[in-house]
Amino acid sequence: MRNHEKLWYKNSIIYQIYPRSFFDSNGDGYGDFQGIISKLDYLSDIGIDCIWIMPTYKSPLKDDGYDISDFYSVYEPFGTIEDLKKLFTEIHNHGMKVITDLVLNHCSDQHTWFQEARRDKHSKYRDYFVWSDTDQKYSETRIIFVDSQKSNWTWDAEADQYFWHRFYPSQPDLNYDNPEVREEMKNVMRYWLNMGIDGFRADAVPYLFEREGTINENLPETHAYLKELRKMMDDEFPGTILLCEANQWPEDVRQYFGDGDEFHLGFHFPLMPRIFKSIGQQDASSLVNILKATPDIPENCQWCTFLRNHDELTLEMVNQEDRQWMWDFYAPDKAMRMNLGIRRRLYPLLENDRNKIGLAYSLMLTLPGSPVLYYGDEIGMGDDISQFDRNGVRTPMQWDDSLNGGFSTSITTYLPVIDDEVYGYHKVNVKKQLKDPDSNLNWLKNLIRIRKESIALGEGDIRWLTQGENIPVLAYKRQTKNETIILIHNMTENEVSINLSVDTGIYRDMLQPSVLFYSNSMMSLHLKPRAFYWLNKEQ
Ligand code: GLC
Repeated sequence: MRNHEKLWYKNSIIYQIYPRSFFDSNGDGYGDFQGIISKLDYLSDIGIDCIWIMPTYKSPLKDDGYDISDFYSVYEPFGTIEDLKKLFTEIHNHGMKVITDLVLNHCSDQHTWFQEARRDKHSKYRDYFVWSDTDQKYSETRIIFVDSQKSNWTWDAEADQYFWHRFYPSQPDLNYDNPEVREEMKNVMRYWLNMGIDGFRADAVPYLFEREGTINENLPETHAYLKELRKMMDDEFPGTILLCEANQWPEDVRQYFGDGDEFHLGFHFPLMPRIFKSIGQQDASSLVNILKATPDIPENCQWCTFLRNHDELTLEMVNQEDRQWMWDFYAPDKAMRMNLGIRRRLYPLLENDRNKIGLAYSLMLTLPGSPVLYYGDEIGMGDDISQFDRNGVRTPMQWDDSLNGGFSTSITTYLPVIDDEVYGYHKVNVKKQLKDPDSNLNWLKNLIRIRKESIALGEGDIRWLTQGENIPVLAYKRQTKNETIILIHNMTENEVSINLSVDTGIYRDMLQPSVLFYSNSMMSLHLKPRAFYWLNKEQ
């Protein structure tokens, strides 16, 4: 493998698919594998390099598939394992990579391991989970689902003990102190990697081990095990990758890259809310500060930038004051709030305003990292806060203006398609947007195409050109040996004139190639409200 092929993940556009909502090929009201296969042309046409498929395992769906009752089977309405294999093959035939969710921390309480464990104290599966006679152990551990959980312990009458869970009680944590568990999960990985996937998005990894007197996150034992997984992948499935979901501060996420021997990719959770804060406050200083506080990562690693995903827009990685500001500004209706976050989609959050959304997408595509796009956000889908939990941001994909937005021919779908006046499927759908050169879809597609023309935007260094307490115009430079790009964002709703100290030369706007700027060590610009430029230095 040539080096740039080996490091494909360092400069990839990743697209996140929620299979239940993508496309229903057999009219039963649920999305399925065949449905995704039939939409792969659409995805490769957008410029997607890698698809992340959310959990497809057998599950009672108490946490939408993140509660797995059998790691070796698939959720039946999605299709068969053969269909899923075909999906992997077809993704590859389309020139894209595929990663799937790996849920290490817990399984479903319906899993036979847990059923056996609670039934019989002497079963070998008892020790697959974390039990206690009291609910007082590990008392320094925070609760993640604060809206619905009072404790990380739940009493199990059948087992006559408490069991440990970081998420819902229907998701008992696995006991990683048990070597058999550690081996079981390696085998699960081998099973799926043998089907030819390119890697995993590893769910909720900070919580694998427990140690009294700690907060039970990011423990050294957890890192040691994750490194073992990586080694197994490198040895047995060279070229496959791991993407880390660790919703933690930059210095803690940094640990998950190890010395380039743990994760290849990691979501930048603290950056995400600061993109929204910077747009809302018309001041990018919080964004610059968090990236300045982000330690360097090894050469073979990369961040993932993202704006939204299938969960609430998490505000765990901001302080109380910022959290309150974000809630007041972006979630004025209490029903929009959930746990420590906001359960809304990108377009409604930014008021369907192309200028604000442009800033958000431009930042996601030009700050260091491989961008991850959440399905539906390319066309500007809305949300439905009347739905339970996070379902309001997981509604059916809007393909056209026929029944159920073209998602399914069934009379009822497992979740209703959005049909309000602004974001409803009559107005917002793929078919319509493909035809309109100025649609959300074609506009974003164009940004993605341009981003992909530049290595510097994917892998270049970053240098800040604007700094300070208040940053109304954010400018930075992305650079490789052969390429220099100056990124400029007017974060404000006003016209602004600025002088930027940049190398002498001619700069062409990659977004509007007829627009040139000159610098004689100083570049003067007059910026429209919320305008952004990607200026490529002519050689
Ligand atoms: C991750 C997933 C989330 C899930 C949780 C428990 O945070 O993104 O959807 O509820 O893990 O598995």
